Amino acid sequence: MLVFLNVPSPIYPQPDKILEHPHIRTFHARHGRMSARREFALTTLLPNFEISRLERPVDLRKVLKTYRVIVDFGSGMGLHTLNLATNNPNIGVLAIDVHTVGLLAVAEAASDSNLLNIRTHHGDGMDVLKDWLVAQTLDEVHILFPDPWPKARHHKRRLINQSFLQMVWKSLVPGGRIIFVTDDETYFASASEDFKASKMFDIDYGNWDVPLTTYHQRAKRLNHKVSQLSATKI
Ligand SMILES: C[S@@+](CC[C@H](N)C(=O)[O-])C[C@H]1O[C@@H](n2cnc3c(N)ncnc32)[C@H](O)[C@@H]1O
Repeated sequence: MLVFLNVPSPIYPQPDKILEHPHIRTFHARHGRMSARREFALTTLLPNFEISRLERPVDLRKVLKTYRVIVDFGSGMGLHTLNLATNNPNIGVLAIDVHTVGLLAVAEAASDSNLLNIRTHHGDGMDVLKDWLVAQTLDEVHILFPDPWPKARHHKRRLINQSFLQMVWKSLVPGGRIIFVTDDETYFASASEDFKASKMFDIDYGNWDVPLTTYHQRAKRLNHKVSQLSATKI
């Protein structure tokens, strides 16, 4: 263990990695110091799961040897990814987040429990959706409590817009779907309009059990109304 204590603690996430993206950022920049344990997870465990190393375009069903693949886009602390992967060994789960700590927790838990059906991308998920994946190979994309960007001047940073919906549509199998959940009422209203305007999805406002995530717990604590929709590819 002492050997890890000698490693200098870097600032994360690496600023270069964020700045290299020309499109509008949908995430907040965060910085912090890393413990030796996290440094180990970052340099030794996380690379085992990272998809940016794979030859493109990637068919995650083949990589993971599963017949279905779900993306947890903006996986945060990774609770949903880990629950999905643990409870459904036949489903592959791709956790994407630009922030480091949650992905390290995913990599640690997946390594400890030998979960073979998880992959990660530590970076901007737009890159993944743009052209990394074989078209029509994702079954579901879960967007749970995305950053709400509540100020009007920041609305352009919200994830849901026509170009994002087109990218996801292209990646989904026929009949595949997006699950969108938020506790921000204005975001839910505008996203619903975007889904409808796209004419690419059938919208269902059903009332399913919203997966447990850190931000879902927060929404409950704050007594926020949680809204959800499922958009099935037409
Ligand atoms: C409010 S948090 C919600 C996290 C988690 N889904 C939950 O419910 O607890 C939104 C997350 O989305 C991530 N995110 C936003 N835009 C992203 C992007 N373009 N690529 C990767 N991650 C992104 C942020 O870094 C953040 O961790």
